[in-house]
Amino acid sequence: MVETVLRGGVIGLGIGKSHAKGYRTSPDVELVAVCDTNEERLQTLAAEWDVPVRYTDYKRMLEETPLDMVSICLPNALHAEATLAALKAGMHVVCEKPMAPTVAEARQMLDAARRLNRRLMIAYNFRYRPDTQWMKNMVQSGALGTVFQAQVSWRRETGIPGSGWFGEKGLSGGGALIDLGVHVIDLALWMMGFPDVTTVSGDTRMLFGQRNLKTWGRHPGDRARDSFDVEDGAVGFIRLANGAHMLAQATWAEHTQPQQDDIRVELQGTEGTAVLHIRNYRNDDTLRFYTEMQGEPVTVIPSPRFGGPQGHEALIHDLARCIKHDLPTPTDGAQGLAAIRVLEALYESARVGHEIALEPERV
Ligand SMILES: NC(=O)c1ccc[n+]([C@@H]2O[C@H](COP(=O)([O-])OP(=O)(O)OC[C@H]3O[C@@H](n4cnc5c(N)ncnc54)[C@H](O)[C@@H]3O)[C@@H](O)[C@H]2O)c1
Repeated sequence: MVETVLRGGVIGLGIGKSHAKGYRTSPDVELVAVCDTNEERLQTLAAEWDVPVRYTDYKRMLEETPLDMVSICLPNALHAEATLAALKAGMHVVCEKPMAPTVAEARQMLDAARRLNRRLMIAYNFRYRPDTQWMKNMVQSGALGTVFQAQVSWRRETGIPGSGWFGEKGLSGGGALIDLGVHVIDLALWMMGFPDVTTVSGDTRMLFGQRNLKTWGRHPGDRARDSFDVEDGAVGFIRLANGAHMLAQATWAEHTQPQQDDIRVELQGTEGTAVLHIRNYRNDDTLRFYTEMQGEPVTVIPSPRFGGPQGHEALIHDLARCIKHDLPTPTDGAQGLAAIRVLEALYESARVGHEIALEPERV
């Protein structure tokens, strides 16, 4: 067990702000260094948080600042190089989702973490909610019987991110699927205990982003984007080695209920069906369990308690605690890689127009 408070850092201060909150409220780690290429954002936030060590160049920060753990919150294409640099500098890493745009990069990250005996956690913040944890426990307890189908989706009416890099394949690796789909695919795999994936079939579409429609924060008269070359919607069929399958859908934009931002994970089992439905990030009324009792259909409405730290704040607390007490790494790189393998194969399937088979993964 490590006795002292750990030293933490955050690279990239967009969603990195939520990581910073975790470092600032954890009893096991403190925030001592932050980095962002946007000098104004860097100085404003670092001053607000009273963080003394500030960099605009993350490589220099990693070389010059001794840290125990660091969060990588950069555009997707930078995840691998920044993670590798942090691991080589001897730090444990929390990397934002998606782990990396390609399987090759994700494997490199995982291999490096293992070789260097450092922890690599992927920031799947939705696992740190009482409703997703309840649903996972239901599946693992056998209450659903044998799960034979997962249906997962994240669908937005107007939700193409305003930040330029999300729409540029070279920086993002993809659109709605890699941005939103990765969360719900991960949730279903996690709840089901990471069954092997045998084949996937996917389709993607690019209908709104190129026309500068349905972008968050768009104002009348804004000029069109310089480039938008990723999908704004995708569907997938994922066959699992245990005989079950998953239907997946992710959209940044579609014509539907105005302002809808809708996350759904439905697991159907032989004894019951569990549904997680998060509407517009609200925490109320997110769960249903459908089963039968005495031959009649029964609907259970669980009311999980949303108290205390959740999401990013909780995941930073969790990793720091696990480092200090020498416990296994939560949401480790191998689980991050599992989702990237599915995504890469879905994109490939969409490109070539047929199903793609996956080899069993060495982990
Ligand atoms: N888990 C979640 O719910 C969640 C939510 C949002 C974003 N994300 C992920 O977090 C990552 C960042 O997304 P975001 O929404 O914060 O993007 P963003 O564009 O809002 O913020 C990225 C920040 O990184 C800075 N930056 C860019 N290149 C840099 C570099 N080379 N060195 C230092 N700083 C640099 C930018 O100035 C910016 O402040 C992405 O991988 C995204 O998928 C995850």
